[in-house]
Amino acid sequence: MNAAVRAVVRTALTRHAEVFVIYEGYQGMIDGGEGIRQFQWDDVGAILGKGGTVIGTYRSKEFREREGRLKAARNLVDRGIDRLVVVGGDGSLTGLDTFRSEWPGLLDDLVRDGRLSAQQVADHPALMIAGLVGSIDNDLVGTDSTIGADSALHRIIEAIDAITSTAASHQRSFVVEVMGRHCGYLALMAAVAGGCDYVLIPEDPPQPGWEEDMCAQLRRGRQAGRRESIVIVAEGARDRDGKPITSSYVRDTIDRINHEDARVTILGHVQRGGRPSAFDRWASTWLGYEAAQQVINSDKDSPAMVLGMRGAAVVRLPLMDAVSATRRVPELIEARKYEDAMALRSAD
Ligand code: F6P
Repeated sequence: MNAAVRAVVRTALTRHAEVFVIYEGYQGMIDGGEGIRQFQWDDVGAILGKGGTVIGTYRSKEFREREGRLKAARNLVDRGIDRLVVVGGDGSLTGLDTFRSEWPGLLDDLVRDGRLSAQQVADHPALMIAGLVGSIDNDLVGTDSTIGADSALHRIIEAIDAITSTAASHQRSFVVEVMGRHCGYLALMAAVAGGCDYVLIPEDPPQPGWEEDMCAQLRRGRQAGRRESIVIVAEGARDRDGKPITSSYVRDTIDRINHEDARVTILGHVQRGGRPSAFDRWASTWLGYEAAQQVINSDKDSPAMVLGMRGAAVVRLPLMDAVSATRRVPELIEARKYEDAMALRSAD
């Protein structure tokens, strides 16, 4: 995310915009004060290689309430801010869309209760926005890679390589649980890139009897000379009846059927930190550049867009269409319409 922040700031400065950075997500916008700081070129120096986000992030409950959005609107107008680039997940982007559509009404209310002058509001008739998706889950329908997903995948592969050496030494089986919420991207890619034996993902639950199939697969690997076995379990994995498949269940199954003493490693938040990959740095720089251009070139009639990577190109998608399609995937999985979920996720 830092690469995107850096690119937005520097691109906007080269377009002679005044640039403000909002700390702690929407909460900084509501709190104002030090939560909103004007940035110059050097303020984003030396952040490109840092993990996480140096400007912080926060799941603001207050922004979900109209009063929170009124405070946020007032703080923006006070500083002359009428263009926003937001990096976030589907919740942040939905909040952004709501904020934009409510903007004229929020400003009217602020004039009515004396928090803004009519002149201030007249100068800010619309809010121009652009969204970028920051999520390791890589679940935005219509794009191939969200900001952070590639770095998380690298982190997982490093962990799998490390586990592989100890597993091989002891001739052990390991069950490795990876994040991704409702999306199996990290699990599937990690299984392929890590040379693992079996993978369980939410979008393609295994057929009944999968436990025997998995254990037979592990046995075949050992018979072929492998000294270790690794099963990747996505945190959202489930069986065909919709019942969650936990990593401890997978371990117990291996122990029971293959008479082993398997181990579980839950990678957890290790996946969300550390230095960003080269891909994440260049793609996010490009996305930040395009997002800044997008909001600067927008006017009050421009549609709200989210920008993402498809292949090696930046694509622009109607914001709420992309968010709605992304939310539909877990609903389809919940309804056990797996083929529809897969088709939607692979849709352009
Ligand atoms: O959406 C990103 C993600 O890391 C998911 O993969 C995971 O399910 C979730 O966030 C964890 O959230 P938290 O940091 O609140 O535990």
